[in-house]
Formats: sequence, structure tokens, C-alpha cells
Amino acid sequence: MGRKVCLITGATDGIGLVTAQELGKLGWTLALVSRNAQKGERIARELRHVCRNEEIYFKQADLSLQRDVRRVARDIAETYESLDVLINNAGAIFWKYQKTAEGIEKTFALNHLNYFLLTNLLLDRLRAAPAARVVNVASMAHRGVSIDFEDIENKKVYENFRGGWIAYQRSKLSNIMFSNALSRRLEGQNISCNALHPGFVRTRFAKDNGGYFAALVSIGMTFGAISAEKGAKTQIHLATSPNVEGVTGKYFDLCKPKEPDSRALNESDQERLWDVSEDLTRSSR
Ligand SMILES: NC(=O)c1ccc[n+]([C@@H]2O[C@H](COP(=O)([O-])OP(=O)(O)OC[C@H]3O[C@@H](n4cnc5c(N)ncnc54)[C@H](OP(=O)(O)O)[C@@H]3O)[C@@H](O)[C@H]2O)c1
Repeated sequence: MGRKVCLITGATDGIGLVTAQELGKLGWTLALVSRNAQKGERIARELRHVCRNEEIYFKQADLSLQRDVRRVARDIAETYESLDVLINNAGAIFWKYQKTAEGIEKTFALNHLNYFLLTNLLLDRLRAAPAARVVNVASMAHRGVSIDFEDIENKKVYENFRGGWIAYQRSKLSNIMFSNALSRRLEGQNISCNALHPGFVRTRFAKDNGGYFAALVSIGMTFGAISAEKGAKTQIHLATSPNVEGVTGKYFDLCKPKEPDSRALNESDQERLWDVSEDLTRSSR
């Protein structure tokens, strides 16, 4: 059997970077996708050295932009005949309301539509692998919110002073709903799809927001968070462990399946979210 091929988004920092390092050490071929080309090329160089693995490449894409998601998916499909593992990990919180250059609210664009579009564009390459895995990094922050289909792009939510947090919670709920809807569509095929909570992890997460929110997160992380090495364990488990071969449509925490919030399991909402996501990604074709 040849080397496994794996695409990891957000692999230039935090738990994505640790995941890349561990999978690189296994001798896997890695495509690391993030937005900053200079940082990404440097990280890929360092990982090739540390992992003694020449098959680690960086691909630049701002994943909040559908044109970049499509470009990177095309590049991957042209470069690799098959894809064994796709780890949708890149994500962020935006404390203030922002739109992408394509006119979509940024939390929803990066944290959900990117997972949805990239995965769908790569399904043929995943199907070409003997037993492929899609790993969606969600969060326990999904608990306690629901998707408001009348306000899918969080406009009303951001009127609340905690709006950025609620938009983030909804995006992480969407990650689990998407995982479940996808695993239903892939039933009987060779692709599993699971979501996970990595823990509260000391990373660069939220720091780009500046101000009191970033300061609060930073204090919380200093005293209450686990290391990125520990935080990466569940996604590495889902990407590599023989124990999860064939397991699909589950939500994991601490490397074990866990029941998500019941709102993540509502099939009609999952299907509605799928349809909305399809609509919102169609025009960028
Ligand atoms: N940290 C936690 O406590 C925690 C808890 C639950 C869930 N999570 C989830 O874990 C995942 C990883 O978070 P983390 O804590 O490791 O965060 P992080 O340290 O901030 O790393 C985020 C990664 O995503 C990349 N990224 C951000 N925006 C991007 C964009 N527009 N296009 C492409 N790449 C982009 C970053 O690239 P740059 O290197 O260019 O910044 C970086 O590589 C996220 O999905 C997050 O929601 C984190």
C-alpha cells in the first residue's frame, strides 16, 4: 500500500500544526492549506525537516473565499489521484461582524461553507481511496444554540453584544450537522465522516480580534486550557486509528464518541442546512 495522502486545513498553527507534524512523522503525504503563503512555506519546510518527510507541501488559500476553496480543490484533484484523509480544521471567531469580499458573513463562510464546499469538491478523490476519512473539527461550543434559518448569515445575531460568540457557536453546530448529513449521503461507500471537540486548547485562536475579548481568551487559555499537543489528539485519532475504521456520523470528544446537543441531530434541520449551503456555494461555480 502506498503512502496515505491527507489534506489538513489550518495546518500552520494550533492543533492543525500539531496534527500535521504527527501525520508527517507517519510518512504521509500532506497538503497543508492556510491563508498566509510566507508562513505556510516556512512551516512546510520546517515540517519536512522535523518529520524527515519530503512529501509535505503548502497550498495557499483564504478558505473564507469560495474562489480560493475551488482553486485549492482543483489543485489537489489535479495533483493526487486519491485522497485518504481530509481534515477540515481551519476556523476562527470574529468578534465584530465582517463580510468576505464575496459578500458572505465571515464566520459562516470560513467555519461552515468552507468545510461544506471543500469536502464536496473533493468527494471524487476521497472515493478513489480504499477507505477515506473526513474529519470535521467542531467544538463543544455548539451546545445551547440552534440555526436560525431566517438569519443564516448572523446579521441579527451580531446586534447582540455577544454576537460573535453566538455566530461561532452556530458555525460549530453546523460542522456537526454537516458531518451527519454527509455521512448519511455516503452510506455504503468507502468514506467515513466524523466531527469532534478538541478541548479548550492553548492556541492563537481568537487572538486576531484584539481588544478585551482577545485578552479574556488569552487569560482563560493561560489558566484553563490544554496544550495544542493534547488538543490535537482526537483529530489524529480520527485520522489514523484502526479502531474508528468504518465509524461514521459520530461526534467525538477525548477520542471517544459522545452525544452532541440534540439540536445537532435534527435531520430535517441538517437537510435544510445542506440545501442552504448548496444555494450559497452555487453562484461561485
Ligand atoms: N482552541 C480551542 O480552544 C478550540 C476549541 C474548540 C474548537 N476549536 C477549533 O479548532 C480549530 C483550530 O483552531 P486552533 O485553536 O488551532 O486555532 P489557531 O491556532 O488560530 O489556528 C487556526 C488555523 O487556521 C488557519 N486559518 C484561519 N483563518 C483562515 C482562512 N481564512 N483561510 C485559511 N486558513 C485560515 C490559520 O492560519 P494562519 O496561520 O494564517 O493564522 C491557522 O493555521 C478551529 O476550527 C476551532 O474552531 C478550537
